Amino acid sequence: MKKLVVLKHPLIDHKMSIIRDKNTPTKTFRESVGEVGALITYEMTKDLELVPKEIETPLTKMTAYQLKKDVVIIPILRAGLGMVESIHNIIPSAKIGHIGVYRDENTLEPIAYYAKFPNEIKSGVVIVVDPMLATGGSASYAIKVLKEKGATDVRFVGLVGCPEGVNRLQHEHPDVPIYLAAMDEKLNEDGYIVPGLGDCGDRLFGTK
Ligand code: PRP
Ligand code: URA
Repeated sequence: MKKLVVLKHPLIDHKMSIIRDKNTPTKTFRESVGEVGALITYEMTKDLELVPKEIETPLTKMTAYQLKKDVVIIPILRAGLGMVESIHNIIPSAKIGHIGVYRDENTLEPIAYYAKFPNEIKSGVVIVVDPMLATGGSASYAIKVLKEKGATDVRFVGLVGCPEGVNRLQHEHPDVPIYLAAMDEKLNEDGYIVPGLGDCGDRLFGTK
């Protein structure tokens, strides 16, 4: 099952224009990345399974519905951190794990430096978040590690992808649905997405 969803929504397009603009200040950039992350997650979670639960409102008994599985958010450090808080706000019961990966500047291959996951990755819905899906190396590596640790229901949420990254992720993890705000044209010779938004980690955290 290969699934790619590129969301089409006026609020997402509007916020992406702010995120892509090189003159957007750090604070607005960070807020907008979080907002788009939450909007994508709202759409991505619409097929989550529910279980009935008998509750009492102040007026009467009723059957209500709650999420069947735990949800785990896994940001790929650093840039994935920009989407965690806003996603956690709409799924406050979610657990959060972290995986640290950066790209080697020359080979563009992922270099791992950190991983800490909650036990719920084995039974829960695991949302891997990273704004950028460029070569796909970082996301594919993170998902491989999660699967080795027992994750079976993994989804990827990003802001901007490109054909190279989507093809690699779909080839290496065909079971993982990909949700994006935009599918861009290509990678440039330095491995940056074009038109893209630049270096997401640097823009989120004000580094260079
Ligand atoms: C960026 C981005 C992704 C990765 C995407 O991270 O946040 O993790 O590049 O590129 P890929 O699809 O080619 O792997 P970066 O390596 O710049 O690390 P940082 O977030 O720590 O700055
Ligand atoms: N990582 C980024 O932050 N931006 C890109 O365009 C590609 C990888």
